[in-house]
Amino acid sequence: MNKTFEQDIKKGLSSSPKYIPSQYFYDETGDQLFQQIMKLEEYYLPRIELEIIGSCSHEIFQALAFDAIDIIELGAGDGSKTLKLLKNLKSKGLNFRYIPLDISSNVLEINQSAIQNHLPDVDILPIAGDYMKTFSELSRQKNPKLVMFLGSNLGNFTPDKALGFIKHLYQHMNGSDALLMGIDLKKNPQMIAAAYNDSQQITRMFNLNLLGRINRELGADFKLNRFDHYPFYDPIKGSAFSYLVSLETQKVKLADGTCFYFEKNELIHTEVSYKYSLKEIEKMGMKAGFLKVRHFTDPQEYFTLSLFQNE
Ligand SMILES: C[S@@+](CC[C@H](N)C(=O)[O-])C[C@H]1O[C@@H](n2cnc3c(N)ncnc32)[C@H](O)[C@@H]1O
Repeated sequence: MNKTFEQDIKKGLSSSPKYIPSQYFYDETGDQLFQQIMKLEEYYLPRIELEIIGSCSHEIFQALAFDAIDIIELGAGDGSKTLKLLKNLKSKGLNFRYIPLDISSNVLEINQSAIQNHLPDVDILPIAGDYMKTFSELSRQKNPKLVMFLGSNLGNFTPDKALGFIKHLYQHMNGSDALLMGIDLKKNPQMIAAAYNDSQQITRMFNLNLLGRINRELGADFKLNRFDHYPFYDPIKGSAFSYLVSLETQKVKLADGTCFYFEKNELIHTEVSYKYSLKEIEKMGMKAGFLKVRHFTDPQEYFTLSLFQNE
């Protein structure tokens, strides 16, 4: 049994308000559900990000004037979008090693076999674990780096933490390294609200899977039909929150006897996804220490791939 998972769940469910850290979405079931979410019409993010990758690979290639680099991807996931970028960079003659970092070793296996199948000549060095730790260890390597943080992952931090995270990356990067982040932009709130409340209810299952995972790994007795999925977008703050709502007053017990009590309509916070404007992204990059920020967007400016550099 994973001790950190157990401690984090006990801490989150005995706090007020209750929460479950969003990194726990991604067990095997969560990975599968997330791959389904990525294909949903309403979940526009990966589709548009992929479109931008298709249109800006040449400029990214030109910005990386090195003989050989390490492409380090934080929270790499299944690598399906990255594959397109790697293929494009390879076809332009870039010589690189691909280092995907992810907390889920399951998704890293999917990632590795997808990249290997299509790019058999590329060296892949998958690293399982929390990227906060594994990235600082990697920073001692001398090769120039392109660090990637795609899929609007930055939005899962509060703006303060996002800035702290970019600063942390900056401190572990050398002058010639570059950072490429895929960030969701502020837009019509209806479009954002629909992305987190899809008509096929896959996002609902994804959110409820957190409770299923606690049942499977900690022997809890959550009845999933006694909880509901409640997503909420605040366009003023640019924050899309996800909650689980307890539909009745209830008690849930873990295998070790620990009990948690839920009031009727009590919320468990499970995720936040912040949206930014291009100006806010530039400000963050500059505050973190970068000198140059370039945005690659789709024509409607729904999403951006932003490249942060020093030279
Ligand atoms: C929203 S998915 C995005 C995947 C991919 N970047 C994409 O754009 O398709 C987030 C990924 O980050 C990973 N992840 C979340 N928290 C992490 C952490 N602290 N350390 C390493 N990986 C993490 C998850 O396992 C998951 O694969």
